[in-house]
Amino acid sequence: MSYQEVYTRSLQDPEGFWGEAAAGIDWYKPWDRVLDDSNKPFYRWFTGGELNTCYNALDRHVENGRADQAALIYDSPVTGDGRSYSYRELRDEVAAFAGALRARGVEKGDRVILYMPMIPQAVIAMLACARIGAIHSVVFGGFAAKELATRIDDARPKVMVSASCGIEVNRVIEYKPLLDEAIGLAGHKPDHCIIFQRPQAQAAMQPGRDLDWNEAVAAAEPADCVPLLATDPLYILYTSGTTGQPKGVVRDNGGHAVAMRWSMKAVYNVEPGDVYWAASDVGWVVGHSYIVYGPLLHGCTTILYEGKPVGTPDPGAFWRVISEHRVKVMFTAPTAFRAIKREDPEGEYLKKYDLSRFEALFLAGERCDPDTLAWAEQQLRVPVIDHWWQTETGWAIAANCLGIEQLPVKPGSPTKAVPGYDVRILDENGNEEPAGEIGRIMIRLPLPPGCLPTLWQNDDRYLESYLSAQPGYYLTGDAGFKDEDDYLWIMSRIDDIINVAGHRLSTGAMEEVLASHPDVAECAVIGAADQLKGELPVGLVVLKAGADRDEQEIVDELISLVRQKIGPVAAFKKVTVVQRLPKTRSGKILRGTMKKIADSQEYKVPATIDDPAILDEITQALIRIGYAK
Ligand code: COA
Ligand code: AMP
Repeated sequence: MSYQEVYTRSLQDPEGFWGEAAAGIDWYKPWDRVLDDSNKPFYRWFTGGELNTCYNALDRHVENGRADQAALIYDSPVTGDGRSYSYRELRDEVAAFAGALRARGVEKGDRVILYMPMIPQAVIAMLACARIGAIHSVVFGGFAAKELATRIDDARPKVMVSASCGIEVNRVIEYKPLLDEAIGLAGHKPDHCIIFQRPQAQAAMQPGRDLDWNEAVAAAEPADCVPLLATDPLYILYTSGTTGQPKGVVRDNGGHAVAMRWSMKAVYNVEPGDVYWAASDVGWVVGHSYIVYGPLLHGCTTILYEGKPVGTPDPGAFWRVISEHRVKVMFTAPTAFRAIKREDPEGEYLKKYDLSRFEALFLAGERCDPDTLAWAEQQLRVPVIDHWWQTETGWAIAANCLGIEQLPVKPGSPTKAVPGYDVRILDENGNEEPAGEIGRIMIRLPLPPGCLPTLWQNDDRYLESYLSAQPGYYLTGDAGFKDEDDYLWIMSRIDDIINVAGHRLSTGAMEEVLASHPDVAECAVIGAADQLKGELPVGLVVLKAGADRDEQEIVDELISLVRQKIGPVAAFKKVTVVQRLPKTRSGKILRGTMKKIADSQEYKVPATIDDPAILDEITQALIRIGYAK
């Protein structure tokens, strides 16, 4: 069937379409309804059905002939370590850790927060939670203690799982002090912390509360898979909203398993037994969907890579992994390729490796600029596919679905809507924009299986953030257009979210931190274009009258404050002091205009501006820190 036929069917007959896809999953009990729309606008998939995601990701492959196939290959250039786990080994490790969690009182519905580096224990802990019906919430290691504390208070975990350290190229980052600080800051306290001690650092343990991973596992009885409702939550993943309070995106078990499995063939064109590699982090949605769940549900071999595209040890790192582990399809963010291109523009390192088994590269997480796409295509000589999605959806909204029909690539566009997603471009009045006109990108409800059913214990925020802009539609937060061939073009966010090295960050959250500094009267954070990371945050601050300290000292304090409160992942290193911020007459800060100035783009002086002369001052201030040239 052609893409068009599959797409049309998915929208005309969603129950038939996804009911068939659900045959790819083993169920303890079939569903009563494929699509339950009895509580609109909350839609649920496969209500009444019972399954276990961990069983589908591990046990059934062990039972069906894949016991000795590699399930997970851990490759760590930062430690020199590596290990392959067969499906049987991984199942046994997961069952043992699930037993350790259960021995600490963790039961179905309890939350477990994981604050982990890219080590196999992170994957084992996620799957162990899924096995016993506990809801995991993985927090990315680059977030600071305060961000972790916010998530602890929202998820209220019974147990937390962490490791003594992470390794950033050649720096050992101790995680345990951050974990302790976060628990100290949080109102909610977990009963226990299970800590995996790595040889690079020894974590100090708090007697009574903290347990050593190995000891906890040694003492435990392996736990079996627990049947769960399709609609029971599998995990919560926090993502940046427009304020400092992150959104707890909920993923269910049934719809997620069906969508993940289906996407592996339809979108990525991989078969069970193939080696699939997502070079991301388990702390992001890409890590959840395509390091852990998707490949394992499909019976593939997945790779857990603890390294960077460059510097571990050189820009040939990705090519080494692809050739050594016989990777068929890889997924990463464009920024990783920009980093490689910068260090090895002629692709000299590529020549050292055999990439003959490599069939396709998928990019997502940020807009893929045509230059990076062309360079990757030229070097790799395989299809390079930009695809667009977000934490909330859990899988691609728009892609060139290689497993259905390969469509011509238009550089700069992630191709067309994926089956299941009814994507529309709407104006402020809810009318559909004609081809070529930019508008809000929305998805007509229901969202397909796998997308968020709600936010963790916050239906109201779910409705308000995503469903209230236009009744009957989900607001993606992105603006863009469809062209005359129905290709989608993603142009910008309509909120204050920025994308730094494929990481989603809230400028609003950074502004909250800057505003908390005693010398700051007012501030704005904008995302300025960056050749490597796509965007970088830039702060503009107005100091309080009477703040007569050295400006550079205040700037340094602001930079370290953001690092301390949000984390190194914010990559917040540019701040400039200004006398005033440009505003509309009604007092709205003109962030968009400042972004254009920073990016040296032409801009119109907004008609509503209070005092146009401020824009010259802003330009000068941005020039001082290397922008607006
Ligand atoms: N634990 C602790 N610190 C972390 C961390 C972690 N898990 N991950 C990142 N950091 C730190 C980095 O060390 C860096 O600290 P620094 O300011 O002291 O140098 C800071 O957070 C910013 O990290 P990053 O934005 O990743 O920048 P980088 O300079 O280390 O690397 C790239 C740049 C492009 C190589 C890197 O961003 C990359 O590989 N990106 C791939 C894209 C990706 O994984 N996207 C995820 C979604 S698909
Ligand atoms: P995250 O939730 O971290 O995955 O970030 C999702 C956001 O990243 C999207 O809403 C987009 O703004 C942006 N994004 C992700 N993939 C793409 C892409 N292929 N093209 C353009 N923007 C993208």
